[in-house]
Amino acid sequence: MKHFLNTQDWSRPDLDALLAQAAVFKREKLSGAMKGRAIALVFFNPSMRTRTSFEIGAFQLGGHAVVLQPGKDAWPIEFDLGTVMDGEAEEHIAEVARVLARYVDLIGVRAFPKFVDWAQDREDKVLRAFARYSTVPVINMETITHPCQELAHALALQEHFGTTDLRGKKFVLTWTYHPKPLNTAVANSALTIATRMGMDVTLLCPTPDYVLDERYLGWAQANVAESGGSFAISHDIESAYRGADVVYAKSWGALPYFGNWGPEKPIRDQYRHFIVDEAKMALTNDGVFSHCLPLRRNVKATDAVMDSPRCIAIHEAENRLHVQKAVMTALLR
Ligand code: CP
Repeated sequence: MKHFLNTQDWSRPDLDALLAQAAVFKREKLSGAMKGRAIALVFFNPSMRTRTSFEIGAFQLGGHAVVLQPGKDAWPIEFDLGTVMDGEAEEHIAEVARVLARYVDLIGVRAFPKFVDWAQDREDKVLRAFARYSTVPVINMETITHPCQELAHALALQEHFGTTDLRGKKFVLTWTYHPKPLNTAVANSALTIATRMGMDVTLLCPTPDYVLDERYLGWAQANVAESGGSFAISHDIESAYRGADVVYAKSWGALPYFGNWGPEKPIRDQYRHFIVDEAKMALTNDGVFSHCLPLRRNVKATDAVMDSPRCIAIHEAENRLHVQKAVMTALLR
């Protein structure tokens, strides 16, 4: 049984097929591909785009979506084995995943890191537990990566450049300031899909502490070796932006400070100037800007950048609907 946990688990032809199918769904909204089928959307964290696009996507395919928020409108879940469950959790993932799989044909999971211990968070325990116990395919709706966002971004770039071949495009993934330390998922994912597509990718971040986990650096290196792109890390804003075709922004917390965010805050506060603004975008090759959203205006990117015709974030957000319909359809085959 195939899950959709990371794009890195899927072959390039399979990813290309998902993107091609998404483009079809963008033209032809309705289909009966999920007629009589259902998906459970399990949210441990808030969402606007993911929840809406999955629910509407299932509806447009003739299927049904059920949203569950463990600890809110569903029982809190235990994930460790051998635990004496005398705390908050009312049931174990071993039962939850297997019971849900008797009702539905797909399970989507959103479970962000706990931001206390990256060594634990990087194991992606919640998603892996659903995949382990579920007897139906599991879809990652953002955990420590965000593969649905990757596909939506790739489709938006293919649309913008008018080609499915993104090789040779200069792609900058820039860290931006945010008042809180955020998940690295979208950054890990942007790096993964941009290198997979053969682009010349620069990871721009303020200091070595903000470099991403070695797993994703390894994926990036492996991907460019196969796709013919390139990958570099930079802490220099001007050289990273110069000549860029794509600027993708995301804020994230520095991995060495997981669980000890106090000392990280004054460091992060020094780098508010990483905001994406018109002066930086003027260094690019008439480049496009995007972000996964939600985005704090005039913190991560200025109003002028967000309102520019070169901003494709809304197109990318729309594409979540189309790519997720392609993913659900592919997994139901
Ligand atoms: N980009 C994204 O996943 O948005 P939500 O957090 O609103 O779902």
